[in-house]
Amino acid sequence: MAWHKLCDRSDLPEGGGKEFVIGGQIVALFLVEGEPQAVDGMCAHQGGPIAQGALQDKCVTCPWHGWQYDVKTGCNLLTKKKMLNVFTTDWRGDELWIEL
Ligand code: FES
Repeated sequence: MAWHKLCDRSDLPEGGGKEFVIGGQIVALFLVEGEPQAVDGMCAHQGGPIAQGALQDKCVTCPWHGWQYDVKTGCNLLTKKKMLNVFTTDWRGDELWIEL
C-alpha cells in the first residue's frame, strides 16, 4: 500500500463520478455529502465503468446492466456483499491523495 496523489480540489466531480487511473488501478471518485468516496472503477459484474453510473445519495448504478453499489461500503445493494474495494483518501492542502 502506498499513497498517491489522486487529483486537485478543482478536479473533483460535480453531481456524478469521475474516473482516474492511478498506477494501473481504475478508480471511480464521487462526492457524497461533500466528502470524497473512492471505489473500484470497474464493476464487479462485467467491468462496466462505475464512474459513469448515476449517483443517488450514496448509491451508484452501473451504466451497463444496472448493478447498484453503496460507494461508502462497496457493497452490492441487492446481495449486501462487498464487491468493490473502497479506498482511503486524505486531503493534503488542496490535493486529494489516495491509498492503493
Ligand atoms: S458491468 Fe456493471 S452491471 Fe454489468
